[in-house]
Amino acid sequence: MARQFFVGGNFKMNPNTKEQSLALAAALNDAQLDPATEVVIAPPSLYLLPLKEKLRKDVQLAAQNAYFKVSGAFTGEISPAQLVDAGVPYVILGHSERRTLFHETSEIVAQKTRVALDASLNVILCIGETLEQREGGKTSEVCEAQLKAAVAVLKPEDWSKIVVAYEPVWAIGTGKVATSAQAQETHADIRSFLSKAISPAVAAATRIIYGGSVTAANCKELSTQPDVDGFLVGGASLKPEFVNIINAKK
Ligand code: G3P
Repeated sequence: MARQFFVGGNFKMNPNTKEQSLALAAALNDAQLDPATEVVIAPPSLYLLPLKEKLRKDVQLAAQNAYFKVSGAFTGEISPAQLVDAGVPYVILGHSERRTLFHETSEIVAQKTRVALDASLNVILCIGETLEQREGGKTSEVCEAQLKAAVAVLKPEDWSKIVVAYEPVWAIGTGKVATSAQAQETHADIRSFLSKAISPAVAAATRIIYGGSVTAANCKELSTQPDVDGFLVGGASLKPEFVNIINAKK
């Protein structure tokens, strides 16, 4: 079965008011979005509930993080169960900003993934190499190591609830997008790893999306690559061009 194109908007710690957040939702509500594409936006957690009220129902919500415990004395954290209770179906885990700034190891990300799936969330699982690792020829090795931790704690059937987001660290927020050839090569390597590590069926069905300086100007060409199943968009998801990225396949 063909993989449904997927576009996620990761607002990160933006915008700074509920009003601006609702304005981003309103812009999507008024837009013509390709009905063949699955669209998910990830606002700051405080705005998930107000957006849930106002956002069109064919655009889903994601949290940008969740903890690996269901409840308890974990000041400042949000549990997967709370997200489910709030009607939020997706969570982004393992973003490079979480890995770097908040010291999340691949094992922690894997544990979070396990608990999120157990709570019945869908997971956008982020992986990707630094510039130094790419220049050292280690891109596949790094992506595989990040995925291996998840493979170790997941069952083959869990992968139907996972979207893998390949986000090269050097492309995030830098304006240096991967070329379509670079994206395709890495996505194909990731798919081949999934095939060997889990099964050809899981590899064929799992969506692998690209993130890192995606814009309206570069999304069309990237979207033509056979193993690029969509995008995870940061900066451009806060701009009107997000609609063009959602409609990249149209
Ligand atoms: O998660 C999306 C992301 O990290 C890419 O950010 O601003 O380069 O599109 P940006």
